[in-house]
Amino acid sequence: MENFSVSSICCIGAGYVGGPTMAVIADRCPEIQVNVVDLNEERVAAWNDKNLQNLPVYEPGLDLVVSRARGKNLHFSTQVERCISNADMVFISVNTPTKTKGLGAGQASDLRWVEACARQVAKYAKGHTIVIEKSTLPVRTAEAIQKILKSAHRNPSSDKAQCSFSVLSNPEFLAEGTAINDLETPDRVLIGGEDQKAIEALAEIYRHWVPDEKILRTNLWSSELSKLTANAFLAQRISSINSISAFCEATGADIKEVARAIGSDSRIGPKFLAAGPGFGGSCFQKDILNLVYLCHHFGLPEVAEYWERVVMINNWQQHRIARLVVKKLFGTVTGKKIGILGFSFKADTNDTRESPAIRIAKDLLEEGSNLSIYDPKVEIEQITHELNLQREDDTNTKKETSLTGEGAWKYASNIKDVIKDADAVLILTEWQEFRSLDWESLAPLMRQPAWVFDSRGIVNTEQVKESGLNIWKIGDGSDQ
Ligand code: UDX
Ligand code: ADP
Repeated sequence: MENFSVSSICCIGAGYVGGPTMAVIADRCPEIQVNVVDLNEERVAAWNDKNLQNLPVYEPGLDLVVSRARGKNLHFSTQVERCISNADMVFISVNTPTKTKGLGAGQASDLRWVEACARQVAKYAKGHTIVIEKSTLPVRTAEAIQKILKSAHRNPSSDKAQCSFSVLSNPEFLAEGTAINDLETPDRVLIGGEDQKAIEALAEIYRHWVPDEKILRTNLWSSELSKLTANAFLAQRISSINSISAFCEATGADIKEVARAIGSDSRIGPKFLAAGPGFGGSCFQKDILNLVYLCHHFGLPEVAEYWERVVMINNWQQHRIARLVVKKLFGTVTGKKIGILGFSFKADTNDTRESPAIRIAKDLLEEGSNLSIYDPKVEIEQITHELNLQREDDTNTKKETSLTGEGAWKYASNIKDVIKDADAVLILTEWQEFRSLDWESLAPLMRQPAWVFDSRGIVNTEQVKESGLNIWKIGDGSDQ
């Protein structure tokens, strides 16, 4: 079988997935020109910023990879048309959020951006082009992409007679915060497709740094479904451990001990067993809801219900934490200052999409509290966007000590500002700097009796207690 050689790649979408993935491909394959295109000019400018601290995605190690390849064989631009027509291989790496209205609203993925990409590829591609689904897509999306690409031949006035396409699915399994490591040493690379030559052309790219035995070849539909299933299984593990965390608190067990005990069983394994405020991020909820929608579509309501429960437990865990803060603070937080430490959906990322902090903060605001929010990487504008509420310092009214029942929030640029005069501090993200706080010196700054709510189980309980503060820790039933 003669190999199809790839010398130019175009990736449509310079987001969390497209940017880092293409940076690693360019870094590992110096003979291939990699063009990442996006409609968003600001984002493209940020990828091209001389100061690597200004890249639009914060990922440990990304700056080094970008600095090695950018300007040589890695290029970011808005020239969608030109880059598609020069490419042997086009990756589709655009956003696929949950639909907010119409058929399947709240569950199905909104595929308008994917479809738009397929149409752009159909219009501008030349010669034989391998089109790769990189974004997480519902099962059988490749069918729609294939149909759109095929229609490119049918326009008699175009010169598309010479043009042909192969569609592959190559889902990304990178997690934010460890994206570069996940890309450089993946557990596996999955390639789904029918055209063996196209599959091998893509495998050849990965073989620059991934051993062949880690490159799995499947049919298109298995590949698409594997991505949804992997995320559903991971999310299910978190809902499972979180449901048991509540049980631990009620019975005197300790979730860390339980997690260690079950994780030592090699069939279960120790990873992904940290109880917390619920999963966030752009993938888990979206992908499960999509799976639920597809199960209904394919006449499997029991399967749909089973997976929907994973999301329901996740929502419940978030409300549960907000409720217990209120309960411990004598049943009311109206007019009280509550410090929030961490707003990103997990440590080592500035991403706030579906962060549990959003729902918990909203619940506490609804109860009338004054929130002071600090996160080492999340900007004030991002929190404003997520909470969709005016900041307290945006208004002329001073609500700090008011008992009007209306909540308000403020952005804090350091931990001391969060803690000063607070009745409680709530840790929502497991940032390293929150693990070793000096409670001895922080405690006197708070209004007594004061509480520490540790939803990530990261603080030293004894130290907090010794400093005279009350503590609630996720899944710790030792006070029972
Ligand atoms: C996830 C998948 O891990 C990745 O393979 C896929 O490609 C995209 O979705 P990501 O969303 O970046 O990656 O983050 P992940 O590390 O999986 O964490 C998701 C959420 O689960 C976070 O909110 C995290 O705090 C939470 N989590 C994770 C826990 O609460 N406990 C754990 O033990 C692990
Ligand atoms: P992900 O997390 O999957 O990478 P993001 O939302 O971070 O998703 O990024 C997707 C990017 O795709 C956005 O920057 C968006 O502007 C871009 N995009 C969407 N549709 C198109 C298109 N038709 N052409 C070029 N870029 C697009």
